[in-house]
Amino acid sequence: MTRRVAILISGGGSNMVALVRSMTGDHPARPVLVLSNDPAAGGLEKARDMGVEVAAVDHRAFGRDRAAFEAALLQPLLEAAPDIVCLAGFMRILSPDFVARFEGRMLNIHPSLLPLYKGLDTHARAIAAGDKQAGCTVHEVTAALDDGPILGQARVPVLPGDTPETLAARVLPMEHRLYPAVLERFARGDRTPIYLE
Ligand code: GAR
Repeated sequence: MTRRVAILISGGGSNMVALVRSMTGDHPARPVLVLSNDPAAGGLEKARDMGVEVAAVDHRAFGRDRAAFEAALLQPLLEAAPDIVCLAGFMRILSPDFVARFEGRMLNIHPSLLPLYKGLDTHARAIAAGDKQAGCTVHEVTAALDDGPILGQARVPVLPGDTPETLAARVLPMEHRLYPAVLERFARGDRTPIYLE
């Protein structure tokens, strides 16, 4: 049975593009919705161009009322009836109640070797710590931020003179390899972690 995948983005959506492009042929899943908290997110147009349905729910319209924002976000998501939800550069924290609705079927990509550097500014923190390696992690989303079972990790070296920007530019292509590989395996019901170097 083909798995329905919704992808949540906040920005340019390069990971979303990698995921959408991967879901062809005998891939067990297909994209059914790309959803953003920012109507101006560059990824929305890219998704539309690839023929994927898009929707946006502007979080700024809800001020501090996260429950109201999440109720609005949930509507297009429930209409799309996804089997799997992929967070791909989605920069809003989701409440435990929201996460619980998609328990065991929501994935996230985070630009660090979790459990290191949860939250923001991951590359700057890896450089400041003198780490020799950095990377990215795909994990199942649970109520705790950037936590949950690890489904895959990709490593890159941190090089002398790296800035957060140069390191991010080395990690991002690995994100584009890792996330599609994990999604395909996950959609087949296999949660064995994937490790890339
Ligand atoms: C990616 O590097 C992703 O790992 C990161 O945002 C970027 C989005 O890029 N996600 C987070 O920091 C989540 N906390 P993209 O929009 O081009 O995929």
